[in-house]
Amino acid sequence: MSSDRTLLMRPSPAARESLSALTPILHRVVERIGETNDITTLALEPLEPPSMNFRCGQFNMLSALGVGEIAISMSSAPHERMLRHSIRDVGAVSHALCQSSVGDLVGVRGPFGSDWRVESARGDVDQRDTVVVAGGIGLAPLRGAVEELVRDTQRGGGRIFILVGAREPSQIVFRADLESWKARGAKVSLTVDLATSEWDGRVGLVTTLLADAGFDATNSRAMLCGPEVMMRFTARALIDLGMDPEGILVSLERNMQCGVGWCGHCQLGPLLLCRDGPVVPYAGLVSQLLTQRER
Ligand SMILES: Cc1cc2nc3c(=O)[nH]c(=O)nc-3n(C[C@H](O)[C@H](O)[C@H](O)COP(=O)(O)OP(=O)(O)OC[C@H]3O[C@@H](n4cnc5c(N)ncnc54)[C@H](O)[C@@H]3O)c2cc1C
Ligand code: FES
Repeated sequence: MSSDRTLLMRPSPAARESLSALTPILHRVVERIGETNDITTLALEPLEPPSMNFRCGQFNMLSALGVGEIAISMSSAPHERMLRHSIRDVGAVSHALCQSSVGDLVGVRGPFGSDWRVESARGDVDQRDTVVVAGGIGLAPLRGAVEELVRDTQRGGGRIFILVGAREPSQIVFRADLESWKARGAKVSLTVDLATSEWDGRVGLVTTLLADAGFDATNSRAMLCGPEVMMRFTARALIDLGMDPEGILVSLERNMQCGVGWCGHCQLGPLLLCRDGPVVPYAGLVSQLLTQRER
């Protein structure tokens, strides 16, 4: 990269906050973790402090310099030292990001959007049980929230049930975190669509884990992230078990460009998902809109 370009992307600290919505701030890749054959976690550090403040469930627009920009959720918790994003290699930009090496520069614009509401409206610890349901890479936007929730259980928060579905065992992400959450009191259940010879766990859709997970649906909230069809079936099953649809949050992904409610690319019915989402309650209108495919 030329030094001119680097200068252009280095606003003064005073201008930084207002510019960050539209101007990528350069970050350096300080750690690169291969989670699966096609999912990579990048730990990023700004070239100049301060680090970004964000809430669990929000996303950044990450730019692979000279290639393009895409929406990626934070996979770290706000209290963790390093800003992390976990990226699945599906196309040009995600491929370039996944190929980054330690020391490379990445542009970061954000944080944008709504969050998992880990704290209750009053700012104190929520005492309801929390059911976290993730499909594949869907655990990435939930990882920070789970970290916060696990900390909250030590401060009197409700129990945590983490239900994860993956295509096959090798596609299960954050295995060390899953073990650590289990050791710290969360109930973790895994299932895969296709078992391999070394897999002795559950086989089937993630919805099959709900019935015997052990939570009281009438006094729980839920956080769902994964393919829309999985979130739809899971939300319906939770409602059938007695959960309030307002207490079921889903993270919706649409093609995003500006990230700030200007371009309309992320529209879903009356919602602009970069601004009103990505995390929204599965109630009323959203449950109807979820049956619509992106054009
Ligand atoms: C709010 C938000 C948060 C996201 N968080 C993450 C994350 O934490 N980790 C992660 O790996 N991905 C995340 N995504 C998805 C990510 O933005 C897309 O995978 C990315 O835009 C693909 O761009 P590309 O140039 O690599 O591939 P493209 O060439 O644009 O697309 C390659 C393939 O991916 C599909 N695709 C493109 N955009 C999306 C999308 N938004 N959702 C699903 N499929 C898509 C295309 O239809 C195509 O089949 C998020 C998306 C949004 C909107
Ligand atoms: S991405 Fe531009 S309006 Fe949402």
